Parts: sequence; C-alpha cells; structure tokens
Amino acid sequence: MRILVIHGPNLHLLGKRRPSIYGRADLPTINRSLKAQAGRLKVQLNILQSNHEGEIVEAIGNSRGRCSGILINPAAYTHTSVAIRDALEAAELPAVEVHLSNIYARESFRHTSLMAPVVAGQIAGFGVSSYTLGLSALMGLLTKPRQKR
Ligand code: DQA
Repeated sequence: MRILVIHGPNLHLLGKRRPSIYGRADLPTINRSLKAQAGRLKVQLNILQSNHEGEIVEAIGNSRGRCSGILINPAAYTHTSVAIRDALEAAELPAVEVHLSNIYARESFRHTSLMAPVVAGQIAGFGVSSYTLGLSALMGLLTKPRQKR
C-alpha cells in the first residue's frame, strides 16, 4: 500500500517559520516521524513539498490508481484553492487533511477550509502529532471496515 503525503506552500520553512505557532520541528524531522510510522504500518509513502498549486494538483491527479490514500497539509491553499479541492474530489481516494496549528483559533480567514467537504476528516492543532494522528486515521480508513459517519 502507498500513501501520497503532501506538504503545501511555505512548509519547507518549518522550524524557522513562526515557531510559536508551528513548533520547532523542521520538515525533515516530520518526514522522519512519518516514515518511521509508515515502516511500522508496512505502508510506503510518496512525500511531496510544493509551493506551487499546479504541482500539487498534478500530484493528486497522478495518485489515482497508484496510491491508496492522501495525507495533506494544504497550508495556505486550504483557504483559497478550488483547484486542489477539485483534484482531491476527482481522485476519489480517502484523504485526511492535517494542520500543525488550530486554524479555528487563529485569524478568521483561516477558519474556512475549502478541503473539508471533500476529505474524510481533519486534524488540526497538535503540531507534528497532527501528521502522525492523520496517518493513523487514514490507515484506519483503509484497513478497517467502513463505519457510518
Ligand atoms: C497550516 C495553517 C494554514 O493556515 C497556514 O497557511 C499554513 C500552515 C498549519 O499547518 O497549521 O501554512 O496549514
């Protein structure tokens, strides 16, 4: 089984960027945690960080038939990108949206996620653990019988 992991714009700056909000862990540290977890879960990860909306749209499009699910932190595109939202919907794969920070406790423009209606669920506010919780949740969806929501 293979999972596409997407880190959106500016997340390459983690560790240096607003550590009081996003924490001190950098992106390689987050990816190491995810890879260690993936090893335990016996799942492969395709990891992409991109600052470009089109590149993210293409990665989601290419995941159809190649990946079983998507773990995505769309970063600022969460609040703006109809293109990424539509790509997630078109991929028809279970997706989990994650955020390091609690977007609902921040500026009002961060309170809307265009992704929320097309993902299985969202985890926000737990720092690096948002990603590992997100991967567990996604694996739960992919390996356990479907529950009513
Ligand atoms: C973020 C929250 C977004 O509002 C912001 O634009 C980001 C990071 C988070 O992980 O908390 O870049 O997705």
